[in-house]
Amino acid sequence: MNVLSQRVMRLPTYAVGQIAERKRQLIAEGVDVIDLGAGDANIAPPAVAVESLYRAAQERAMSRYAFQIGSLEFRDAVARFMERRFGVSVDQLSEILPLIGSKEGLAHLPFAVLDPGDVCVVPEPGYPAYLGGARLAGADVEIFPLRPEADFLVELEDLSRERLAGTKLVFLNYPNNPTAAIAPRDYLERTVAICRKHDIVIAYDNPYSELTFDGYRAPSILEIPGAREVAVEFHSLSKSFGMTGWRLGWAVGNSEVIKGLSKVKSYVDTGAFLAVQRAGAAVIDRAEELIEPVREQFRVGRDALVTALRDVGIDCASPRATMYLWVPLPEGVPSGEFARNLLEQEGLAVLAGSVFGEGGEGFVRLSFIVEPERLREAAVRMARALDRFCAAKGRA
Ligand SMILES: Cc1ncc(COP(=O)(O)O)c(C=O)c1O
Repeated sequence: MNVLSQRVMRLPTYAVGQIAERKRQLIAEGVDVIDLGAGDANIAPPAVAVESLYRAAQERAMSRYAFQIGSLEFRDAVARFMERRFGVSVDQLSEILPLIGSKEGLAHLPFAVLDPGDVCVVPEPGYPAYLGGARLAGADVEIFPLRPEADFLVELEDLSRERLAGTKLVFLNYPNNPTAAIAPRDYLERTVAICRKHDIVIAYDNPYSELTFDGYRAPSILEIPGAREVAVEFHSLSKSFGMTGWRLGWAVGNSEVIKGLSKVKSYVDTGAFLAVQRAGAAVIDRAEELIEPVREQFRVGRDALVTALRDVGIDCASPRATMYLWVPLPEGVPSGEFARNLLEQEGLAVLAGSVFGEGGEGFVRLSFIVEPERLREAAVRMARALDRFCAAKGRA
């Protein structure tokens, strides 16, 4: 019986989940696995989050449905953060929406703003939830290749006039996963101007805004004058505070888009656990103080991995944000096959660039999320696997 829809069948399998399963099997077989695949760092959630959750979970009211309004404390804390951090003042009821992690908001957004056949611009390589949400909503997906020579920026003016005219939604993500690219202010200004001119909604995915190094501070797109007319931005507690499993994030920006997303979600979910929202509020109120040691830990990891890779002859750029290195492979090395070999033969999990779409081919993504000694060991394993892979291909 053929029960699955074309929309589902046409979606590629979600690779990160598959790696987790294979990793579990290898560990059970006694393999010493180093996992640089997931964007999930080995850091503890803030004590304030754990304590706040513990206390809140004991209050009966916290166990009720949250609905889309969620916790007012959480909304207020988000509004304070947006003001403090970006100088952006937003209305906590109409311009903020709590999310069960930013992924669900990103994937549900196309249902709120697109009708079947509307064009949705999706960067490639890119976080797979954009493509998934757009395809499931029946959008006409315009894949936009992110190129190193264009600083991995989505330049809407590169689209043909007809495609641009048909576009209703564009996903942008800076600091970027997987390339670690960042968006200059003039880029954001010209993109907002184009989107205002053509009535295009910008989904600005910003979960790495706080994971920045070397004095770089990532902006909110809402800092750009006029952005609020077209943009909705997505934030997450996952990456900055070691809270990936807590499932909490928020959307902020254009009130019509927020209203539409809230309506979609009201048919799909009934809100994040209120006790988690209270804990989230406590974290966001102390974000600047809590993020410093996390940033430092990632900076140390970044420097350790970049140095270790260069020491074994693998060149890569040192990123100013995110937790990722986007490492080019030698000419002709297919990323999927190489990543599989690396896991099976060396017990090192990385993400093949192809996981982020065909445009990611020729690269692998390494997350600097474990201790520096393990990162150094990972670099040695990767160099060994590359030598072996290239030698075998040379013989074939
Ligand atoms: C670019 C990007 N957006 C969104 C997410 C989703 O984060 P979460 O759903 O945990 O908030 C991720 C996670 O890897 C990501 O890399």
